Amino acid sequence: MGYVNLVFFMLFPFLCHLSFSSSLPHLCPKDQALALLQFKHMFTISHDASDHCFDITGQSIQSYPKTLSWNKSIDCCSWDGVYCDETTGKVIELNLTCSKLQGKFHSNSSVFQLSNLKRLDLSNNNFSGSYISPKFGEFSSLMHLDLSDSRFAGLIPTEISHLSKLQVLSIQSSLLRFGPHNFELLLKNLTRLRELNIDSVNISSTIPLNFSSYLTALWLPFTQLYGVLPERVFHLSNLESLDLSDNLQLTIKFPTTKWNSSASLMELYLYSVNVTGRIPESFGHLTSLSKLDLLSCNLSGSIPKPLWNLTNIELLDLGNNHLEGPISDLLRFGKLRSLSLRNNNFDVQLEFLSFKRIWTQLEELDFSSNFLTGPIPSNVSGMQNLQFLFLSSNHLNKTIPSWIFSLPSLYDLDLSNNHFSGNIQEFKSRTLHRVSLKQNQLQGPIPKSLLNQHDLYYLLLSHNKLSGLIDSTVCNLTSLQVLDLGSNNLEGTIPLCLGEMSILRVLDLSNNSLGGTINTTFSIGNVLGVMKFDGNKLEGKFPQLINCKYLEVLDLGNNELKDTFPKWLGALPELQILNLRSNKFYGPIKDSRTDNLFAQIRVIDLSSNGFSGDLPVRLFENFEAMKISSEKSGTREYVGDISYYYTISLIVTTKGLELELPRVLTTDLIIDLSRNRFEGHIPSIIGDLIGLRTLNLSHNRLEGHIPASLHQLSILESLDLSSNKISGEIPQQLTSLKSLEVLNLSHNHLVGCIPKGKQFDTFENSSYQGNDGLHGFPLSKDCGGDDGVAQMTNLVELDEEEGGDSSMISWQAVLMGYGCGLVIGLSIIYIMLSTQYPAWFSRMDVKLEHKILTRMRRHKKRH
Ligand SMILES: *[C@@H]1O[C@H](CO)[C@@H](O)[C@H](O)[C@H]1NC(C)=O
Ligand SMILES: *[C@@H]1O[C@H](CO)[C@@H](O)[C@H](O)[C@H]1NC(C)=O
Ligand SMILES: *[C@@H]1O[C@H](CO)[C@@H](O)[C@H](O)[C@H]1NC(C)=O
Ligand SMILES: *[C@@H]1O[C@H](CO)[C@@H](O)[C@H](O)[C@H]1NC(C)=O
Ligand SMILES: *[C@@H]1O[C@H](CO)[C@@H](O)[C@H](O)[C@H]1NC(C)=O
Ligand SMILES: *[C@@H]1O[C@H](CO)[C@@H](O)[C@H](O)[C@H]1NC(C)=O
Ligand SMILES: *[C@@H]1O[C@H](CO)[C@@H](O)[C@H](O)[C@H]1NC(C)=O
Ligand SMILES: *[C@@H]1O[C@H](CO)[C@@H](O)[C@H](O)[C@H]1NC(C)=O
Ligand SMILES: *[C@@H]1O[C@H](CO)[C@@H](O)[C@H](O)[C@H]1NC(C)=O
Ligand SMILES: *[C@@H]1O[C@H](CO)[C@@H](O)[C@H](O)[C@H]1NC(C)=O
Ligand SMILES: *[C@@H]1O[C@H](CO)[C@@H](O)[C@H](O)[C@H]1NC(C)=O
Repeated sequence: MGYVNLVFFMLFPFLCHLSFSSSLPHLCPKDQALALLQFKHMFTISHDASDHCFDITGQSIQSYPKTLSWNKSIDCCSWDGVYCDETTGKVIELNLTCSKLQGKFHSNSSVFQLSNLKRLDLSNNNFSGSYISPKFGEFSSLMHLDLSDSRFAGLIPTEISHLSKLQVLSIQSSLLRFGPHNFELLLKNLTRLRELNIDSVNISSTIPLNFSSYLTALWLPFTQLYGVLPERVFHLSNLESLDLSDNLQLTIKFPTTKWNSSASLMELYLYSVNVTGRIPESFGHLTSLSKLDLLSCNLSGSIPKPLWNLTNIELLDLGNNHLEGPISDLLRFGKLRSLSLRNNNFDVQLEFLSFKRIWTQLEELDFSSNFLTGPIPSNVSGMQNLQFLFLSSNHLNKTIPSWIFSLPSLYDLDLSNNHFSGNIQEFKSRTLHRVSLKQNQLQGPIPKSLLNQHDLYYLLLSHNKLSGLIDSTVCNLTSLQVLDLGSNNLEGTIPLCLGEMSILRVLDLSNNSLGGTINTTFSIGNVLGVMKFDGNKLEGKFPQLINCKYLEVLDLGNNELKDTFPKWLGALPELQILNLRSNKFYGPIKDSRTDNLFAQIRVIDLSSNGFSGDLPVRLFENFEAMKISSEKSGTREYVGDISYYYTISLIVTTKGLELELPRVLTTDLIIDLSRNRFEGHIPSIIGDLIGLRTLNLSHNRLEGHIPASLHQLSILESLDLSSNKISGEIPQQLTSLKSLEVLNLSHNHLVGCIPKGKQFDTFENSSYQGNDGLHGFPLSKDCGGDDGVAQMTNLVELDEEEGGDSSMISWQAVLMGYGCGLVIGLSIIYIMLSTQYPAWFSRMDVKLEHKILTRMRRHKKRH
């Protein structure tokens, strides 16, 4: 989890200068010095061992190997991190947080000889999955114990409950868990506890009634708590901070009248818990509240009036609920630093933001995925500190007002999926990291100031009406990872220098009016994963992509490219989608004896070109990814998911329809070689590609029989062999194609009886017409024999559950929900990630990114 700390390191760059050595002269007892030295020698110093180093207020703590300076010729009481009692000289405090210690922490550790310890902080080291020894329970004087983020693992020993003087206990770690009833016991016995932080430990129990009334901070997020939260928690009169987030099974019922903690409570983090219903009016009593996070709590109704009286609010997150109603009273929250109402049902106008200097401290404003209408008011002032502005997926219209472009420290701007029109103005900010204005009606050129941003990682301007040329200064964006300019009216040629952008991962220039040849040479070591140039007027030769070792998606469809099929193409090891449809490619696709060609290919669309010769048998043999059936795969993954902010869309022909998939599932396996001049037989090896969903070889010059091996394609949904010269009978075995929804064998030279049963009872005349020799249902020509009249079956078996039609529907749904409510603030994390590990491309990356974003959110908020 190095990135988490890294981020904080960046966010809070002021390093505390630490000094533990005291100036008072002590005499450290020899045995204690010896114990400490022994402890020191149990561990190695590892630079990765302390990568979480920030304190609870978000300040970064310098991590360095404190024990290195321990020296037996110096009094141990002045060793770094060691504190002694002034009278007895006994060691009473050991603070080795962030000391880069690595190694096993055994039960025989000499640290347990320091029996007078009152404070022990071993957080942020790497004890390599050691158990927490029951001996920790023997520190009978211990008041403060911190074992967080030190890679302790396994069960937390019951003996921790013996530490009856404990006031602060922190054991945050996802590797630890409590045994049954041990959490209850802990709370019951530690009657003096003031701060309890067990973040991410698997507690997996209810919260017991019996716990210390001194609690000021109770942090139990992501701990698998369940049951109903005892109301007593809200009546702890000293409680200042409560975090129970991310416990989906924990049901919370807020007090409907006065809370006893009302005067003290400052921070309430309850995201992703089971709240449900309205925000009670009793929140109005929480007059000290400064941070309130009720993200994803299934809340409905309007924000109650008394809540608007909480004028100390600095952070308010009510995102991912079903809230509605007026919000203009937000202006009463004069101290706001972060506000999110994302993904709710607010259908208001933003007029209330007009006039007055407001929210001078606001850093993050997120109204995305609501039903906001009308324009953004033009006379807004004061928000000079705004860094994150998210208004995507609303119905905002008219022009984007100039105050937004003038924000001096804007960092992340997402206004996508609205109805904004007019030009994009020049940005004043020089700190932009992400700009997403896609899916609007913006026009005019791409502003120059956008191409002059040293830290810009994501530039997404697709689906607008932008015009003009793509200036080659775009290549000066040396941090750029995603350039999405698709579906605009851009003209001219593709800049040559794009091939030198060393960390660009997505290059989408599709559906513009770009012309000329693609002369761009992509340099060695480039990390391009997605290249979409489809739907332009590009001509000439196939681009030179041999250095694109990470290319997953290559879409050159619907252009005027004229070349033969390049031999090196199959050697791109990650290539999953290859779309060359509707160009002027020609010539045979030569069989190659090389192994591993196209091993990852999932969609290959060469349709509507002039390819000729035999179908490339050896090539089919290499399609390893297609030889795996996805029939039972439960999870949905998408091809080319290499950035959180960009998804691949693809035009395909399947089931007789041309449609645009807004995202491509890894299970959407397609071979489309239709409308070429291929000849010869259909190789029976195609039957081995058992993951295929769509096979289209229509409109070629294929002859010979339909190979019976095709019956193995058990999840095939669409089979089109029409308009060829295929002869012989339809193999009876094809009736086992239980997922087949559309079959087209028309206009061939097929003869004999049409097989009967299962899916074959659902196909109509059009599937077979133009084959003079075919008989039987549904053709009117009898097949003769005993069962001359075919049975009528009305029910079409649609394999809803197996991703057949249902996946089509969900594509639509995804399209509609496109861009709404996915992006969480803090894109900085991703950026940090990306800069740290520029060569991470796997899908893992995206998942990880999401996890980090979610987790970061929580941490960020505690500060
Ligand atoms: C310990 O201190 C002595 C005397 O100050 C010094 O000579 C020696 O190098 C030190 N050793 C370490 C390991 O720092
Ligand atoms: C402590 O225990 C570990 C494992 O049981 C053992 O390897 C190690 O030698 C012991 N150390 C001492 C000082 O007894
Ligand atoms: C240990 O030192 C760090 C850094 O100074 C400090 O934040 C933390 O509170 C200390 N731990 C204890 C238990 O005092
Ligand atoms: C922790 O230490 C173990 C070996 O003791 C090592 O394998 C592991 O990678 C380390 N983890 C981190 C995060 O440094
Ligand atoms: C609870 O604390 C008492 C001392 O205060 C101790 O005797 C007892 O063993 C503890 N119980 C548990 C289960 O730890
Ligand atoms: C937490 O622990 C419970 C019971 O010990 C177990 O069933 C559950 O799978 C664990 N959850 C996680 C996320 O580890
Ligand atoms: C959420 O709370 C409601 C009552 O408010 C309860 O009926 C439901 O079972 C709870 N859901 C979970 C997952 O605990
Ligand atoms: C809100 O504050 C106003 C005065 O600032 C007060 O008159 C009103 O009663 C308060 N409302 C609630 C519900 O506390
Ligand atoms: C902008 O939106 C408002 C509210 O939906 C609507 O009344 C108005 O006609 C829209 N204006 C334009 C120019 O689309
Ligand atoms: C782009 O970079 C080149 C070379 O680094 C520099 O000469 C040029 O002025 C830059 N263009 C802009 C618009 O910053
Ligand atoms: C590509 O190269 C050819 C031949 O060198 C040249 O005629 C053409 O103008 C170049 N096209 C572009 C877009 O640079």
